[in-house]
Amino acid sequence: MNKKITKAVIPAAGFGTRFLPVTKSVCKEMLPIVDKPTLLYIVEEAVAAGIRDILVITGRNKRILEDFFDYTPELDALLEREGKEEFLHLSRQIESMANLYFVRQKHPVGFADAVLYAEAFTGEDPFAILLGDDIIYTEPGAVSGIGQLMQCYEETGKPTVAVMPVSDEDVPKYANIAAKERDGNRCRIDRIVEKPSVREKFSNDAVIGRYIVEKDIYQIIRNTPPSPKGEVYFTDALQTLASQGRLMGCRFRGKRYDAGNKLEFLQANVEYALRDGALAEPFRAYLLELAEKLK
Ligand code: G1P
Repeated sequence: MNKKITKAVIPAAGFGTRFLPVTKSVCKEMLPIVDKPTLLYIVEEAVAAGIRDILVITGRNKRILEDFFDYTPELDALLEREGKEEFLHLSRQIESMANLYFVRQKHPVGFADAVLYAEAFTGEDPFAILLGDDIIYTEPGAVSGIGQLMQCYEETGKPTVAVMPVSDEDVPKYANIAAKERDGNRCRIDRIVEKPSVREKFSNDAVIGRYIVEKDIYQIIRNTPPSPKGEVYFTDALQTLASQGRLMGCRFRGKRYDAGNKLEFLQANVEYALRDGALAEPFRAYLLELAEKLK
């Protein structure tokens, strides 16, 4: 029986330069999609899959992330006094939804280095990694994005990454895989490379920011030589697992948004607003009116 995943790691130390100037003082993980910071979507995805212990790898000027999940007695008291039950419930839910841990990456030298800060937290256990820029929407009641990878890991006993088909134009934005053995929505990955050009691609299967790995990943990262850019790529560490025949790809069901890209961030806001009980109708009416004017 393979071990159950109960821990997740969320690297969140990046500067968010693609969102300047707002990220001069607000960290990108706090930018809202409708009324929730993007980080909350990621935490909810992990919690929906049964994960209770979550380590967020932050950096300087990111204390606001800790505050968000903390107890807010003044706010809660005010909501209670004013009888705003719904908001009070929401606030309490956020305070108690998971055990959140925080550690700071000292120098912003990339994803693989950030993962190394999780070693004491994950110990002997396999764990999930969720990148904050990738938001995965799944239908209510469906297994969450990371939950689908966990099923693959629990059944195969092999580290697993999320895979999504992309157009040639988007190939250079992602890690890219070669896989021969396919079984439904799963495949065994033979090769994985970080952000190839279209000419160098193995396929049109891109890796998006969801991973299940085991404790050996730390030693593998430490043994991985840096890329010509000077940074050790997490993808290069995954190649070691692939060459051992130990890396699975899971083509997840769900819609993924790149919240680190302005256009997709706006699209995510529009689509989540259209799924929101109270906003959906008036917002849809507004969009239709706007579409008429733009014709
Ligand atoms: C990171 C990873 C890349 C992966 C992508 C998914 O890149 O390095 O392998 O495909 O996330 O979103 P980034 O988007 O941080 O440049």
